[in-house]
Amino acid sequence: MIKVLFVCLGNICRSPMAEAIFRHLVQQEKLSDKIEIDSGGTGGWHTGELPHSGTRKILDKQGISYQGMKARKVSEKDWNDFDYIIAMDDQNIKDLLEINSQNEYVVIAKLMDFVANAMEQEVPDPYYTGDFDYTYELVTIGCNKLLSYIREKHNI
Ligand code: 4NP
Repeated sequence: MIKVLFVCLGNICRSPMAEAIFRHLVQQEKLSDKIEIDSGGTGGWHTGELPHSGTRKILDKQGISYQGMKARKVSEKDWNDFDYIIAMDDQNIKDLLEINSQNEYVVIAKLMDFVANAMEQEVPDPYYTGDFDYTYELVTIGCNKLLSYIREKHNI
């Protein structure tokens, strides 16, 4: 099993969006028995909460399920459980390396690192920008590229 953890600051806007979109793609490509997906936040203020209403609204509009998803904080132990820890921005990467500095056995990268000539290097935080549509557009591109990368890397 290949395990992918998406990470942002609050785990209510961007990383749950990425988790839902990526799971949707993985299901479409019939890889659900090979790839497991979760998300977490570097901060724990929203633990137990549903995704933000803006994230839910755009996922509903696109017919993408977020059933059962609840915010949680990333923990040191996630480094043992996941193969890929995929962050949304540079601050997430710094915060992740403070939680656990191990980066030998886990790929720690930003989602937009997988997009060649990306229009953004970081996924803007719609909690502050209010623009869930633009974030959705970027996360979708990133998730598609990440899945292609994983398929090629693991020959699946
Ligand atoms: P996210 O957005 O990291 O994309 O989930 C945020 C959500 C909540 C907060 C910050 C960012 N907050 O400060 O509560």
